[in-house]
Amino acid sequence: MKGIILAGGSGTRLYPLTKSISKQILPVYDKPMIYYPLSVLMLANIKNILIISTPRDILLFERLLGNGKQLGINIKYKIQEKPNGIAECFLIGKKFIGNDNVALILGDNIFYGNGFSKVLEDSVDYFQNFKLKKSNDGGAMIFGYPVKNPEDYGIVEFDENNKVISLAEKPAKPKSNFAVPGLYFYDNTVIKKAEILKPSERNELEITSINELYLSCNRLKVKTLGRGMNWFDTGTPKGLMEAANFVEAIQNRQGFYIACLEEIAYTKGWITKKELTEIIDKLKNCDYKKYLESLMLLPI
Ligand code: DAU
Repeated sequence: MKGIILAGGSGTRLYPLTKSISKQILPVYDKPMIYYPLSVLMLANIKNILIISTPRDILLFERLLGNGKQLGINIKYKIQEKPNGIAECFLIGKKFIGNDNVALILGDNIFYGNGFSKVLEDSVDYFQNFKLKKSNDGGAMIFGYPVKNPEDYGIVEFDENNKVISLAEKPAKPKSNFAVPGLYFYDNTVIKKAEILKPSERNELEITSINELYLSCNRLKVKTLGRGMNWFDTGTPKGLMEAANFVEAIQNRQGFYIACLEEIAYTKGWITKKELTEIIDKLKNCDYKKYLESLMLLPI
């Protein structure tokens, strides 16, 4: 499965923070924001990743993450000329996706919770099974997460048997309080679906329209994420602060880092102990270095 991180947009809700810099490079406590969605794709065992950003910002991400080799993964970059909507990423990434299934994560979404790695691995396995059968019929898998402000998100409505009835993008009167977080898994037909999309009233190719197309042919699965799961959309100053406070609290209380990319790569066996040592040796004295050093003691 291929992975796309969409890290463009204009970040208007964070102005003036985003006047001269990309939102997804801003710090969420001690790491650039993009580390968090990248960690999610890595935890899903996705190693071929495309980062899409603006003409102004793409170089920042390349400077930060390079070709991914230091993490045992492969990262490519593409530009989105204008914020024409989330679903445009499948047109921009058409060649990169090729004949594969694809996962999309929005660059400002942060996920953390008990059992989440298993949810991710299961989702990818589900699509891989179709791929093994040479079937392009995996459909779409998205998530539902209860929130207090559903009008700010794409939402999903269920009937009494938990069957999905409808989807809506930021409805004025939401029919449910289940938001659709910015993490989506699709079969390869997503490219064709994106090709036939028409821009919405706000002139964007909407990700909700893609999901509606899957729903209309009965190929949409929605998994609800329970209370043990934390999801942050860091697109506003409040959301950014809440996420940073959360990361700080967990890391300092438990001692485990959230979204330490080298840790994920090392524990998955994508980089060796020697390679981890080389990364550590290049760092000056900082807490992140101390954390990486502590990983060397793990029984791997
Ligand atoms: O966070 C989850 C929500 O994300 C979903 O519930 C909504 O259905 C979905 O439309 C989206 O809503 P947002 O209002 O958060 O979308 P926003 O315009 O903030 O864009 C989300 C991310 O995608 C952000 O990091 C910027 C990036 N982006 C957005 C657009 C429209 C791009 O890179 N290019 C774009 O053209």
